[in-house]
Amino acid sequence: MRIIITDDYAELSQRAAEFVAQALCAKPNLVLGLATGSTPVGLYDELVRLENDGELDFSQVVTFNLDEYLGIPEDHPQSYHHFMEEHLFGRLRERPRATHIPPAQPDDPLAAAEAYEQQIRAAGGIDLQVLGIGRNGHIGFNEPGSSLASRTRPVVLRAETIRDNARFFDSPADVPRYALTMGIGTILEARRILLLASGPNKAEAVARAIEGPVTAACPASALQLHPDVIFLLDAAAAAELQQADYYRHVEQLTRELQQRHARSHGAGQSVNVVPFAGRSS
Ligand code: PGA
Repeated sequence: MRIIITDDYAELSQRAAEFVAQALCAKPNLVLGLATGSTPVGLYDELVRLENDGELDFSQVVTFNLDEYLGIPEDHPQSYHHFMEEHLFGRLRERPRATHIPPAQPDDPLAAAEAYEQQIRAAGGIDLQVLGIGRNGHIGFNEPGSSLASRTRPVVLRAETIRDNARFFDSPADVPRYALTMGIGTILEARRILLLASGPNKAEAVARAIEGPVTAACPASALQLHPDVIFLLDAAAAAELQQADYYRHVEQLTRELQQRHARSHGAGQSVNVVPFAGRSS
């Protein structure tokens, strides 16, 4: 696991955009997994800026979002379809080649879930999956208790998730109770995972995910099983990590090694092995 502790949300967003940009430059037809929520907004702002400036090109990219509420219209202002248009897709000069978000009002949610899995497989799997984390440790809408091998499926949201998301709705009663989400097993099949966490509300979940046991009680802890996961945190979200100083030291050495490698192999050359932190590029 690579654990990067940034000073603040602005730096976190900047670094996140660098990882996405690097992946996109290495593979123009990237299959990119996307997340919603307040955390990735800064990342999307930066990607839009780079694309509008002509530094990034999404025209060959295929995207898959993690999840969507069930039971609200897709043009509802709080739907994740709407979120993605507002924060990313609708602001690009050229849209991605294909965008996928689980449907919000499928006739048959089980069939829709299976179709989503099939679409991911047909695209060749996800190259880079962006994730947020819930205060209860959820990833996507995989709430505590989700099987670590779970696949895309309809889920029942927990009370704390409904409360957390009520800030986006007129009242808690308006928050949908159900969602369609990629499963934890689906997420773990992404070739690289980039989890973003910002603010003190996430500190406990982040510590459980990184330093706790692998357990369905904290879905994000399943990421410990992944060979190429990057936790990109701001200082507040990292505040409860016991080994924060160690992670900072490792990251500093990792960057020094990467710079040395880039100097000797040319700046465009990717680094395939990061000895301290797991696989990287
Ligand atoms: P947030 O949500 O970015 O709005 O905090 C993250 C999540 O619940 O996955």
